[in-house]
Amino acid sequence: MDLVEESVPLRGVALSVLRPRDAEALLDEHAFEHEEYLPYWAELWPSGVALARRLAGRSLRGARVLELGCGLGLPSLAAALETALVDWAEPSLLVERAPWDLVLAADVLYERRNVAPLLDLLPRLFAERGELWLADPGRAPLDDFLAALADGWKRRDEAAGRVAVHRLMRAGAHSAAQ
Ligand SMILES: C[S@@+](CC[C@H](N)C(=O)[O-])C[C@H]1O[C@@H](n2cnc3c(N)ncnc32)[C@H](O)[C@@H]1O
Repeated sequence: MDLVEESVPLRGVALSVLRPRDAEALLDEHAFEHEEYLPYWAELWPSGVALARRLAGRSLRGARVLELGCGLGLPSLAAALETALVDWAEPSLLVERAPWDLVLAADVLYERRNVAPLLDLLPRLFAERGELWLADPGRAPLDDFLAALADGWKRRDEAAGRVAVHRLMRAGAHSAAQ
């Protein structure tokens, strides 16, 4: 595979990411016909960079952290996390290991069909406490997703350049990180 190395400066450190040079070259007609699969994982999206920057240098104090739809996994790298390949529509591995203190997700609402499985999954990932940090560039399904989480979650939005980091806390939860 033709790879390119990209350096992503975070707070006080630069992460070096090796990614396919041309994501479109990974298009697979068979996979697309099966479930409209597109190789979005192979690109470094602004939301992933923003979420990694938001995390870099923060103390997670032993928190159990999960990233959904990680792609190249920049936020997970910033949080120094182990990884597992899991479809969020078949999330038993994630649910078995719940509760998580902090769940990360960058640019996962780019298709409206992603909203329902993620809304179904989220309550199963947390106990009484816990936070979801969602970075999003303002995708069309975002408002519906946030509206569905209006009950039982406190929300704080932070601008991060072209994207926003939405911090959703289970009502009554204390922040997992500052
Ligand atoms: C727009 S990309 C964002 C990638 C990465 N979070 C970033 O910001 O650079 C969306 C990601 O969601 C993943 N994804 C889509 N459907 C998924 C599913 N059902 N289960 C797990 N991941 C999924 C894709 O493979 C892709 O990595």
